[in-house]
Amino acid sequence: IPRKLAPTPPMGWSSWNKFDEHIDDATVRAMADAMVSTGLRDAGYTYINIDDGWQGKRDASGVLQPNAKFPDMKALTDYVHSRGLKIGIYSSQGPRTCAGYEGSYGHVKQDAQTFANWGFDYLKYDLCSGEWFYADADTVKRSYYEMGAALQATGREFIYSLCEYGRFDVGSWGRDVGGQLWRTTGDITDDYPTMARIGFEKNGNPRWAGPHGWNDPDMLEVGNGGMSADEYRTHMTLWAMSAAPLMMGHDLRETSAETLAMLTNRRVIAVDQDPRGIQGKAVRKTEAMEVWAKPLADGRVALALFNRGDAPGSLSLTAADAGLSGISEVEDQWSGKTRLSLPASYTVPARGAVMIVVRG
Ligand code: GLA
Repeated sequence: IPRKLAPTPPMGWSSWNKFDEHIDDATVRAMADAMVSTGLRDAGYTYINIDDGWQGKRDASGVLQPNAKFPDMKALTDYVHSRGLKIGIYSSQGPRTCAGYEGSYGHVKQDAQTFANWGFDYLKYDLCSGEWFYADADTVKRSYYEMGAALQATGREFIYSLCEYGRFDVGSWGRDVGGQLWRTTGDITDDYPTMARIGFEKNGNPRWAGPHGWNDPDMLEVGNGGMSADEYRTHMTLWAMSAAPLMMGHDLRETSAETLAMLTNRRVIAVDQDPRGIQGKAVRKTEAMEVWAKPLADGRVALALFNRGDAPGSLSLTAADAGLSGISEVEDQWSGKTRLSLPASYTVPARGAVMIVVRG
């Protein structure tokens, strides 16, 4: 299925990490308002995504209805669109979603058309329901293809997010079924060990990432309160170096100044959104430290230095880390400060990260 969407990793917000299934029309509208008033929209965060918990029952002709918390889906999408944003919805190929709501089983084309009629721009399709979760590769692929084709047949543009936890090497076929992003892992939670395990170990094979198709190590927890500022900075740095989708997962109305600064840092976002679309990876490891490199479209190279240990650590970054023979300019992405050259020693707090961009 050829698609031209998501030339860079999608950015936005999803209801799941903060609200679980307790999401409703008023909260979605409030998130759209906060996306605009905080400046997050203008920083690039575009999608407001309703995750699991919006579904009601089917009517007599099989058309899926929202539950009482969503009185008028078309009015809601109109509202979100009027704020200069796009809006996403969620379903599953099985009879039940992961939280036990009505899935699209037996109604795939009908549901795709319903989502299009309501005015949605994005679908996350989640492999849930017992026998579906344990289905074989062909069945899983076919089910994703079926919905991808149904979305395309509506004539409306949908970002199609595949959520099957990285099974069956999803990156190798995610584009073929129409997907622009595919989860590489089980669910993130708001704690450093889980975030770090995903970000360092389970962020997907870089060979599958690139314009119009991205490895998705799951949504951001920045702003939810379970990690320190250094740990959240590592979270953002890992996701940006990985060219990961940036889907915020906190209550946007409660974005502190520190959280906002972290989420809207334009230099960090630019590394994530670099049009060349290369997923960065580790180029050097010591006992506690990792050096990652991500070549950028303008010939510069983003370098990150991660301290995975529980004490502050120092390491010298060199031109060779960036695959370059010499360095003419170094910019610190978090602070914006520039210095003249490498090698230079960087001190990183426990569980912290540094990100620089260098020019050869
Ligand atoms: C799965 C997904 C989560 C979320 C929930 C909803 O666990 O991985 O991201 O969508 O289902 O029930």
